[in-house]
Amino acid sequence: MRREHIEYKTMAQLRKIRKAALIVNDIHTALRQAAKPGVTTKQLDDVALRVLHDHGAKSNFMGYEGYPAQTCISVNDVIVHGIPGDHVLEPGDILSFDCGCVLNGWHGDAAFTMVLPGGDEAVHERREWLCEVTRRSMWVGIAAMAHGAHVGDIGAAIDDYISGLSPEPGIVEDYVGHGIGTQMHQDPDVPNYRTYDRGAKLKPGMVLCIEPMITAGDQDNFTEPDEWTVRTEDGSDAAHWESEVALTDKGIWVMNLPDGGASELARFGITPVPLGE
Ligand code: MF3
Ligand code: CO
Repeated sequence: MRREHIEYKTMAQLRKIRKAALIVNDIHTALRQAAKPGVTTKQLDDVALRVLHDHGAKSNFMGYEGYPAQTCISVNDVIVHGIPGDHVLEPGDILSFDCGCVLNGWHGDAAFTMVLPGGDEAVHERREWLCEVTRRSMWVGIAAMAHGAHVGDIGAAIDDYISGLSPEPGIVEDYVGHGIGTQMHQDPDVPNYRTYDRGAKLKPGMVLCIEPMITAGDQDNFTEPDEWTVRTEDGSDAAHWESEVALTDKGIWVMNLPDGGASELARFGITPVPLGE
């Protein structure tokens, strides 16, 4: 197996990452507000740009391996890496927003999924369910980072949760979570499924992006000729949630949320530990 090079952060560095991640949270809030039927995904990308600009931050997606936008906006059967453009949103669309920023050299990266009001009632309900189980699977993964011993414990927990659902959704295996810090993508890989290898030991100073991508049907996917847009092969809907989580010797802290994840982690018996000022 390839040797992993993990960047362990000091407390002061973690606090810098938190600043970047909280800007991503502000972008999410603005996008949740602005996303409506009739709006184009490019208009939403511009909303993200404005928030980035207001904070004096830059998108870490723009230019990444030639990526041409501030954010990724993935609609319906698009799993990830949808490029904002002239696509007009419709009632009942399920869409995921993946956003990131770099501030003073430190990276934030987080994603959420939402379902627009309206559309066919049955379709709408199924999409809300997919959004919610994906969100929950992310929190199950985050809880496993707090309780676990190895990076692989995160994917195992997500896998156990998703496999227990009926109908059983697909876990996308071709894309995984990752370490993050002075670059957006760092070691270690963070798979969303159980692997034979338990992976690196969870150690203080690690920052991981935990980001399950879940499909209503089969996980098989293809990339469009634009070389970015990833769609389900069977046309089924997809959802994607991502949080950036720090591990210290005292516990975890969800960087992209002002409460560090406290309200969601309570039901797992976990109290996130602040990083200080
Ligand atoms: N932020 C995505 C991730 O969660 C990657 C986006 S790819 C980019 O890892 F090219 F758009 F930056
Ligand atoms: Co990510």
